[in-house]
Amino acid sequence: MKVLIATDKPFAKIAVDGIRKEVEAAGFELALLEKYTEKQQLLDAVADADAIIIRSDIVDAEVIAAAKQLKIVVRAGAGYDNVDLLAATEAGVTVMNTPGQNANAVAELVMGLLVYAIRDFYKGNSGTELKGKKLGIHAYGNVGRNVARIAKGFGMEIYAYDAFCRDEDIKADSVEPTCSAKTLYQTCDIVSLHIPANAETKQSINAELLGLMPKGAVLVNSARKEVINEVELVQFMESHPDFKYVTDIMPGNHEEMMAKFPNRYFSTPKKMGAQTSEANINAGIAAAKQIVNFINKGIDCYRVNK
Ligand code: 3PG
Repeated sequence: MKVLIATDKPFAKIAVDGIRKEVEAAGFELALLEKYTEKQQLLDAVADADAIIIRSDIVDAEVIAAAKQLKIVVRAGAGYDNVDLLAATEAGVTVMNTPGQNANAVAELVMGLLVYAIRDFYKGNSGTELKGKKLGIHAYGNVGRNVARIAKGFGMEIYAYDAFCRDEDIKADSVEPTCSAKTLYQTCDIVSLHIPANAETKQSINAELLGLMPKGAVLVNSARKEVINEVELVQFMESHPDFKYVTDIMPGNHEEMMAKFPNRYFSTPKKMGAQTSEANINAGIAAAKQIVNFINKGIDCYRVNK
């Protein structure tokens, strides 16, 4: 049984060692493809793999077709918009994620991006503070909850909107639920995005929504670039010189954003939210265990293509 780790953005070595331990203890073999530059390298590597552990790596119909022995793909992380679920299901391949395992890492990065933004990108000018500001968490999942937990320590007032989460569950964390996304944006000085990229959410963060935010607002994106209407964001920032956008997912129009808003826009060069040893260990080892349990016992917890 061959398990392939295929990660363009590699795990920390300690996480790979942990994965290897799990895989070899089950009597399986581990192969590693890291920092690949061509899709063909991935197509070649998956040819004899029974299981694959990926991150944001694209597993499309071509990759699935090239993986003739493939039984399971585990996305070591939360979002699985990078996997063609339909093609996987048609090929009889199970797809799983490892929800929550990298959530703290992403949440800590969100707070770092926020401090950076409101301290005027460390340019030496006088900034503002997070204490007392209203923070809106758009989607109250694992990352959103961790952002709320940490933001409380900063003394922020926290609101959340989640179409699928009960108000009681949000209130249980001393977070104020709002009845709509619009209300969240109307209420909050800062909004942190935690929505997945899907047919409903793509391009949903638009000028209309951002226009509801108060003066001097900040939007922080550690979710997906696809949820932003990039054309409208540029137009909105042009007409709202007080608005800041910080993101961990480089937009398609990064060069334009840099040129137009050098003092109000920042993107990490590569998605860094989940890039900590701890998150790599948590998500990587969870993925390895899920593969072993699935292959040996048929356990399909966290399957996303049912
Ligand atoms: C996720 O969906 O888990 C995060 O976006 C992290 O993605 P990454 O594993 O590619 O860093």
